[in-house]
Amino acid sequence: MEIKRVGVIGAGQMGSGIAHVCALAGYDVLLNDVDPDALERALETITSNMNRQVSREKIAGEDRDAALGRIRTTETLGELGETDLVIEAATERESVKDAIFAELVPHLGSGTILTSNTSSISITRLASKTDRPEKFMGFHFMNPVPVMSLVELIRGIATDEETFEACQSVVERLGKTASVAEDFPAFIVNRILMPMINEAVYVLYEGVGGVASIDKAMKLGTNHPMGPLELADFIGLDTCLSIMNVLHDGLADTKYRPCPLLTKYVEAGWLGRKSQRGFYDYR
Ligand code: CAA
Repeated sequence: MEIKRVGVIGAGQMGSGIAHVCALAGYDVLLNDVDPDALERALETITSNMNRQVSREKIAGEDRDAALGRIRTTETLGELGETDLVIEAATERESVKDAIFAELVPHLGSGTILTSNTSSISITRLASKTDRPEKFMGFHFMNPVPVMSLVELIRGIATDEETFEACQSVVERLGKTASVAEDFPAFIVNRILMPMINEAVYVLYEGVGGVASIDKAMKLGTNHPMGPLELADFIGLDTCLSIMNVLHDGLADTKYRPCPLLTKYVEAGWLGRKSQRGFYDYR
C-alpha cells in the first residue's frame, strides 16, 4: 500500500509539526482545521521553523520551497477523502475526535488509513466507532515534532498487518523511529512521563521544593533537557491533567490520582506556555 497524500486534522502545535515533517519527507499534505486563523498561524509556524532549519543548514532552501509547495490547507473535512492516510491531531477530547471521525468517514475511500495522534485515549474504542477498525491505528508523535525522533505506533485490537506495515514505513520515510506500544491507557511514553510530572507537582504542593529547585534538580541531577514543571508548561497543563485522568480512570489505581494543585492550575486557566502562565510566568 503506497501512501502519497496525507491528511492532517488539527492545525495546532502537533498538527502543524506533523504537516511540517510529512511535507519535508515528500508527502502531499492537506492540513485541516475548522478555524481559518489556526491554519494561517500553522503555515507561519511551519515556514519559520523551516527557515530556521535552512539557516542551520539542516535542509536546503529548495527542499523548504518544495515542502511548503506540498502543503495545502482546508476548512472542509470532506476534502480529506482524497488522501491515503489521515492523521487526526485535534483537541485531546474523545467527544471531539468521535465527532470528527463521524463527519469524515463517509468521504473516505475504502483504502484510506485512519490514525489518531492521541496521547492516551483507547485506540480500540476510537476505532470501534468508525467504519474501518482494521484500518485504524494510533500514530503518536512527540512535541516538538520536527525535533523529536520517536513515534509511538499503537495497534487497536482489530488493526490489520497491512495497516501497521504501511504506518511503519511512513515513520521510516519521515526519518523517525517507531516504538510499538500495546493499547492500554497512555501507552508507553505518557504512562511513564505523566506520573513523573504529576509527582513533581506533588513535590511542589507538599513544599518539598520550589519550582526552580525541582526543575534544577531534575535537569542537572538526571540530565533531562527540561525540568518536569517546565516540560509540563511546554506540553500544556490541561493535556497533562487529561492524561492523568485517563490513567486514573483506566487503571483504577490511586497512584495515578492527579495532584490537586495541577487541577487548580487548570481550573484557573493557567495552562502553561500557551496561556502565558503555568508554573512559570511567560507574560
Ligand atoms: N519546533 C521546531 N524546532 C524546534 C522547536 C520547535 N518548537 N523548538 C526547538 N527546536 C529546535 C531548534 O531549532 C534547535 O535546532 P538545531 O539543533 O538545528 O539548532 C533544536 O530544536 C534545539 O533547540 P534549542 O537550542 O532552541 O533549545 P534546546 O536545546 O533547549 O532544545 C528542546 C529544545 C528540543 C525542546 C529540548 O528542550 C527538549 O528536548 N525538551 C524535552 C522535550 C520533550 O520531552 N518532548 C516530549 C514531550 S511528551 C510528548 O510530546 C508526548 C505527549 O503526548 C504529551
